[in-house]
Amino acid sequence: MDDIIRVFDTTLRDGEQSPGVSLNTEEKLEIARQLEKLGVDVIEAGFPIASKGDFEAVSAIAREVRRPAICGLCRAVKADIDRAWEALKEAAHPRIHVFIATSDIHLKYKLKMTREDVLKASVESVAYAKSLGAEVQFSAEDASRTDLEYLYQVFAAVIEAGADVINVPDTVGYAVPDEFGALIRGIKENVPGIDKVQLSVHCHNDLGMATANSLAAVQNGIQQVEGTINGIGERAGNAALEEIIMALNTRRDYFKRAVNIDTTQIYRTSMLVAHLTGMDIQPNKAIVGANAFAHEAGIHQHGVLSERSTYEIMTPESIGLKQNKMVLGKLSGRHAFEERLKELGYNLSQDEINAAFERFKDLADKKKVVLDKDIEALVTEKAIKIPEIYALDQFQISSGNKVTATATVRLKHGDQFIEEAACGDGPVDAVFNAIERCIGREVPLDDYGIRAVTEGKDALGEVTVRVRNDGQVFVGKGVSTDIIEASARAYIDAINKMLYETAK
Ligand code: KIV
Ligand code: ZN
Repeated sequence: MDDIIRVFDTTLRDGEQSPGVSLNTEEKLEIARQLEKLGVDVIEAGFPIASKGDFEAVSAIAREVRRPAICGLCRAVKADIDRAWEALKEAAHPRIHVFIATSDIHLKYKLKMTREDVLKASVESVAYAKSLGAEVQFSAEDASRTDLEYLYQVFAAVIEAGADVINVPDTVGYAVPDEFGALIRGIKENVPGIDKVQLSVHCHNDLGMATANSLAAVQNGIQQVEGTINGIGERAGNAALEEIIMALNTRRDYFKRAVNIDTTQIYRTSMLVAHLTGMDIQPNKAIVGANAFAHEAGIHQHGVLSERSTYEIMTPESIGLKQNKMVLGKLSGRHAFEERLKELGYNLSQDEINAAFERFKDLADKKKVVLDKDIEALVTEKAIKIPEIYALDQFQISSGNKVTATATVRLKHGDQFIEEAACGDGPVDAVFNAIERCIGREVPLDDYGIRAVTEGKDALGEVTVRVRNDGQVFVGKGVSTDIIEASARAYIDAINKMLYETAK
């Protein structure tokens, strides 16, 4: 059996299908670069025919990210395959991913096609994609609810037509581990030619079993596993790659399969995805949740202090989680700051370091102890360099439990300053209303959230806002020790993204 399990990341495609998530090309590129550092074997960069934005993002990633295979999704129709190939053709390792549903329920109610129609479309599209020169992956959507004999027939036919990878999705997260493992065994035993291709699985988490099902498939001899960072995706999401990777690493004694992954990049990748998608991670989430390596009970703390392995089955360092050390104080120089950024794994340009240092100095003036997490929040806030069409210059608020909140905001727009005042239902609402006046239009807020980056009264607050324009969602982030300032920054960030995208 091939010892290596290939890791197929679909954060940028299935992950982006999470409600409220919308990434622009720059954000997708940033995630793809980080996925390359993590060491994934395949990046599914998008669904090129779905939109101009998806097409552009897949093309940009295909041009720039050279080590992993870059994959584009298409339905089993020629126009989709042509569009995917157009986006992928400059990739070092292009992969076309053709999918079509095979379960009777999907055939009858969604596709309105017969089994013969689906078989024919599968074979024709795989043969066509193969003729273009790409590696071809075929997925039988809703495979886990498909009649077995029919599934074997479709897989055998697409292998004959040239498919290189056969993917078995548990599209609606319906399978349970023993059953899913048996499905994989059945495919291996009954599909002619299956040992000449890579067998892959793609599990959803509707019943909370996506990781368990993926691992059951590993035990039954698959070669590729699919998932997303932080488990984001449609409905309850996809299998969380960090969980599968760490399970395979930590229980190598049991699974006896390895991955080509640099696990010390997991934490950074998870943070970046959470930041750019605006999908916060639940504190008790396995591997990457804030509490995943925290020991609360005295008896546990005592155990860990005497011998870490009493309560720690993997180390925080193994996923790249640094000790949350005090970094520097307000007297620290630029050189020391730059060194700390390097230790934290950030390779920034001189301009970026200068900007981060300015913000660090501001923070050090307000906050007694500046921690690594604070530095990471400051740097990640500016991770994506979209033009700052509007920038917060200054604001003032008046608010209380017996007075109407009012805010005055001054924004910098090119060389000009625009100042407006407005009232609101509270200080954040007043600031947002004043910002709307400054930019001369309404920008409806879809969602607002706040979290503390570290503990303590002087903690940095990180605000996430979602605004909507023409049905498209834009996520903005802002950090500050002052939550009104963090809110203003987040709102302006979302507005800048919206204006930048709509001007394209
Ligand atoms: O869940 C699913 O079936 C999919 C396919 C497109 C692979 O995402
Ligand atoms: Zn899926």
